[in-house]
Amino acid sequence: MKTPGPQQPGVSFSRDQPLIRFGVLGSGKGSNFRALAEVFQSGTLGCEPVIVLSDVESAGILDLAKGFDIPAHFVAPGPFRTKMSPEAEAELVRLLRETRVDFVVLAGFMRVIKEPLLQAFPGRILNIHPSLLPAFRGLEAWRQAVEAGVPEAGCTVHLVDSGVDTGKILGQSRVPVLPADTAETLHARIQIAEHELYPRIVREFAQGINTR
Ligand code: GRF
Repeated sequence: MKTPGPQQPGVSFSRDQPLIRFGVLGSGKGSNFRALAEVFQSGTLGCEPVIVLSDVESAGILDLAKGFDIPAHFVAPGPFRTKMSPEAEAELVRLLRETRVDFVVLAGFMRVIKEPLLQAFPGRILNIHPSLLPAFRGLEAWRQAVEAGVPEAGCTVHLVDSGVDTGKILGQSRVPVLPADTAETLHARIQIAEHELYPRIVREFAQGINTR
């Protein structure tokens, strides 16, 4: 175990240690990445986003990353719709290793992670899913929740394994489903919860790596 150093309130990281580094993979607008980057900028994330990678060349997350001065790259996904080609996934691994990341955060990455990436970062890939897993795995979980008529929804941060939204749960936040909710209004409420939950769980995860 590493020696703990002086601590900020609520953040048990040594100021003498280099920060734990993580890479972010995303396909969309990147609001979860923005939440992580803002908490990092405030000095309380306890770990550092050092690279952002996307399978979508026009993804907002790449522009956001550049705005935060974080290197951002498009990696062409190859011919498959739901996964990266083996070559493309190998390129993700190469870039993440070259950037010396300690763990990987999926923030709206819309492809299933396969063996090369899972083996490169075993037990070190996190995802956020917009439901209270194990309920509503898969796409548009907020719409599934509205259609099922459940009174409560939420979001889950979990480790990524070879299944879809099946890995070990690290944390959840709950939100109500209101009678007038549409899929869109519920998704907006879930996203507000995501932006608080993800930085909190990422901080705890990095702390776990630091004290191992
Ligand atoms: C989030 O709702 C997350 O739960 C899901 O994809 C969405 C990404 O949104 N995995 P954003 O790109 O972070 O805004």
